[in-house]
Amino acid sequence: MIMNKILPSFTSHRSRIKGEKLEILKHEILPKYEITSFFDVQHFNKIHIEIGAGTGDTVSHLAKQNPDILFIACEVYIDGISGICNKVQSQNLTNVRIYTQDARILLNQIPNNTLECLYLLFPDPWPKKKHHKRRIVTQEFIQEISRILKKDGRLFIATDHDSYKEHICQVIYKQNYMDWIAEKPEDFTQEPTWWTKTKFQKKAEESGRVPVFFTLKPKCE
Ligand SMILES: C[S@@+](CC[C@H](N)C(=O)[O-])C[C@H]1O[C@@H](n2cnc3c(N)ncnc32)[C@H](O)[C@@H]1O
Repeated sequence: MIMNKILPSFTSHRSRIKGEKLEILKHEILPKYEITSFFDVQHFNKIHIEIGAGTGDTVSHLAKQNPDILFIACEVYIDGISGICNKVQSQNLTNVRIYTQDARILLNQIPNNTLECLYLLFPDPWPKKKHHKRRIVTQEFIQEISRILKKDGRLFIATDHDSYKEHICQVIYKQNYMDWIAEKPEDFTQEPTWWTKTKFQKKAEESGRVPVFFTLKPKCE
């Protein structure tokens, strides 16, 4: 359980989508894809979840390549949700669902050993020290992910933020629930084979920030 005393891990941005467009999104488009609980999809065999899917670059790319897998895009920001809906609609993807509350609420509903993969790509870095407590990567978070992943499941994390890189390394070293899969130093800096660059990553790289990639699997007991 990770919902006790958690602070929001996202920023409340003001939406650029307003008026009639917002009404259409909320009442006509989103309901085609939205799930409000994990129980809406529990009958699917293979499920992947992206936490903080942004405008859906990764989830739409992966869903197109893997029609037999159900992808849940978790995103709280309405402009991001609109971007995900646009991609799902324009690419006729039938294997994407959208969850619009804090992803950690959804994770709590998932039975043990259920998910194949979980993606956390460029989570909000919360750079100021007083905000570090808002970072989503904590030992409790890793413990929760290890509970819901299948034994051969994977957690992928990426960040371009130096202090968050350090934070993630520290959390990984201190916990005892998941193993970091890295055989050589390049594994840390090389994009996984299935990767597509997100808009956020492109902006980071244009500004000279270097992303790193962590792949974790549940520890064998
Ligand atoms: C920096 S953006 C990266 C978006 C995307 N992964 C990409 O690479 O383009 C982080 C996103 O995570 C979302 N987010 C942060 N915490 C979340 C949570 N607990 N549940 C759902 N979404 C969250 C934010 O709203 C934001 O859109």
